[in-house]
Amino acid sequence: MRMPLIVGNWKMNGSLELVEQFGTAFAETGLPSSVEVALIPPAPYLAAMQAALAGTPVALGAQTLSPEPKGAHTGEISAAMLDEFDVRYVLVGHSERRSMYHEDDAAVLARAKAALAAGLVPVLCVGETLEQREAGQTEAVVLGQLEAVFDGLDDEQRKRLVVAYEPVWAIGTGRTATPSQAQEVHAAIRARLGEYDGDLAEKLRLLYGGSMKADNAAELLAEPDIDGGLIGGASLKTNEFLAICQSAG
Ligand code: 13P
Repeated sequence: MRMPLIVGNWKMNGSLELVEQFGTAFAETGLPSSVEVALIPPAPYLAAMQAALAGTPVALGAQTLSPEPKGAHTGEISAAMLDEFDVRYVLVGHSERRSMYHEDDAAVLARAKAALAAGLVPVLCVGETLEQREAGQTEAVVLGQLEAVFDGLDDEQRKRLVVAYEPVWAIGTGRTATPSQAQEVHAAIRARLGEYDGDLAEKLRLLYGGSMKADNAAELLAEPDIDGGLIGGASLKTNEFLAICQSAG
């Protein structure tokens, strides 16, 4: 069985005050032991979040990393630096990085490799735009983004990833994919993973992201190939995010 994973991606939102609120909320409210939870604040809050989450089972994540190990890369953050703050998960290939910061498939692969080399778990984000969906290209786009990374890794490395399907048209729009729309793409991803290795397909966790909220999480998570969620807006409110975590239990 794959343990459900609920990940909150704050994007460029939040504050030190919100970090404290989440620390208190998780310390006071138990999580189901059958669910894994991670929070991804903006990088300046990693140390504070690490302290706030100490003693809770919630893991820490980062939103991006440099593919380079160190050196003259102003503004960048290395995998080894993230590791110093006990970061476990790091997003690679988020659609906002792909579209606004021009990260192509090669850049995503380089980041995934840098994360793996430091012992971090890359959460590879894939997803189609509305235009691509309407043109019937969803599967080709999503599997293309998947293969661009998985083809560049060896068998042992592939097993250490998490994949998040985030249809671009559902991110921040309030327009969630229906459970069957999401399941269809998740099943295609799992089938493609099976072509690499049956055990990989069986064990790798596939998260859904895109306007997931407390009131639609349960029906999405009930689908057989949806193993968790990557949550943006709804991860900024303690009650809402905790309710999603509970519904995954
Ligand atoms: P929303 O949940 O705000 O749609 O964001 C999803 C997302 O992009 C998480 O990485």
